[in-house]
Amino acid sequence: MKIGTPKEVFEGEARVAMTPDSALQLQKLGHECYVESGAGAMAGFSDAAYENAGVSVVKTAAALWKEVDIVAKVRPPSDTEAKRMQKGQTLISFFYPAQNEEQMALLAKKGSTVIAMDMVPRISRAQKMDALSSMANIAGYRAVIEAGNNFGRFFTGQVTAAGKMPPAKVLVVGAGVAGLAAIGTSVSLGAVTYAFDVRPEVAEQVESMGAEFVYLDFEEEQQDGAATGGYAAVSSPEFREAQLAKFRELAPEVDIVITTALIPGRDAPKLWLADMIAAMKPGSVIVDLAAERGGNAEGTVMDEKVVTDNGVTIVGYTDFPSRMASQASSLYATNIRHMMTDLTPEKDGSVNHNMEDDVIRGATVAHEGDVTFPPPPPKIQAIAAKPQEKPKELTPEEKREQEIAAFKAATKQQVTLLAVGGLLTLGLGLIAPASFMQHFIVFVLSVFIGFQVIWNVSHSLHTPLMAVTNAISSIIILGALMQIGSGSMLVIILAAASVFMAGINIFGGFLVTRRMLAMFQKS
Ligand code: NAI
Repeated sequence: MKIGTPKEVFEGEARVAMTPDSALQLQKLGHECYVESGAGAMAGFSDAAYENAGVSVVKTAAALWKEVDIVAKVRPPSDTEAKRMQKGQTLISFFYPAQNEEQMALLAKKGSTVIAMDMVPRISRAQKMDALSSMANIAGYRAVIEAGNNFGRFFTGQVTAAGKMPPAKVLVVGAGVAGLAAIGTSVSLGAVTYAFDVRPEVAEQVESMGAEFVYLDFEEEQQDGAATGGYAAVSSPEFREAQLAKFRELAPEVDIVITTALIPGRDAPKLWLADMIAAMKPGSVIVDLAAERGGNAEGTVMDEKVVTDNGVTIVGYTDFPSRMASQASSLYATNIRHMMTDLTPEKDGSVNHNMEDDVIRGATVAHEGDVTFPPPPPKIQAIAAKPQEKPKELTPEEKREQEIAAFKAATKQQVTLLAVGGLLTLGLGLIAPASFMQHFIVFVLSVFIGFQVIWNVSHSLHTPLMAVTNAISSIIILGALMQIGSGSMLVIILAAASVFMAGINIFGGFLVTRRMLAMFQKS
């Protein structure tokens, strides 16, 4: 099939849906690639680079549209672009079908197929095609950089001869893809970072990134992220009040607020209200990533940067991925290439639009003359963790009974093991020579002590523990070296084998420890 990418017509859009690299991969699937002249210029990909990658460069958008079977682009089509779509032609782009019903109906009527990259379901298998996530990741990173650009101070704390500077305090509201990217960037720049989300299951992720999760003193039934396709559900008014109260408490303290809270298909909830902005210190910055859907902060102006009377800068840009066009294009083009891989299972250049496939079905919003939006829920569960069932609360008596029963069972098991072990040793003692029994009992006791020592070490510490056992291995090597000179062939072989195996343990231990340490070292 012929796949083509036009130059984006949306003003200021610098991304492009096909890069020379992605074109090479598409050709491996048996497709021919086309690009409109100048389509990649703003993202740093020249026509010559495309030509070198075997892509045909077409002069005009109209000619491109006529030539190809599949059009891959970034932004939803403009009216002119939608008019250019033909029967049987496929469009792959962001489409936002819920807000774009008219165009969806028009394209369905024309007999075109529309694959909306923003509708790729959030299931594990589809992560490589999840363009919303790859763009949100960039937006989260860029939001922190933009905040830094407007913030007149350091992120990290410093003690210098000229004075002590405290670290900046950053609050990230909404720890989804963009939020987590913002948290990672903010922590790595050295700011004290706080994060809040309505989904409690992200707390662990937030903390593992070095930020502090802001807990509310509020009991609400846990949200089932899996049932809502990996997204949050709307929270109750009481929860919202508790959330606002917490934010009010934090407002005078924080220097930078990055808001990313959104539930797809809804307007952004207003979470950072005028009184909180008024309570912030002059020079503070708010970056509102939800600006496109009305913004999480009161006073956000879409696509603009405003400064409030008390000197707080509110950034409402909606084109963060486009501000990092080269990287964003590479990631988006890769998402499209993976979508094409799924659409071309035989790698023979012919598309099999399998509507039984969860991902293809989920993303297709118009096909064979019909509007196919909204899709049925995916057969596979969303990535979000299922909330665990809460264990039943026990009364103190029940707890005590449980403890006694557990203690009795453990004692019974230990007594049985001791009795069996004692009987076996006694039996062995009746037939074995005294010198053997001496060594044997030392051996059994060392196994017992070693087992008791290692058994209670938590799993996460097993690898460092292995490194420590190198010391034990060296004792084994010493013992083996002492035996290796004995005349018996069997002893020599056994001693050589133990040197070999203990050697593997020692050098393997060093290698593993080195790798582990490298994980914690900043390059
Ligand atoms: P996501 O769905 O992964 O994350 C949103 C997070 O907000 C979720 O974790 C959700 O639980 C949380 N949330 C929802 N309601 C909340 C509430 N009331 N309080 C606290 N948390 C709440 O979405 P993603 O991909 O991270 O995108 C975040 C935002 O960034 C979206 O608004 C998206 O449109 C926007 N975005 C903006 C860009 C720009 O250039 N300005 C570019 C890309 C994305």
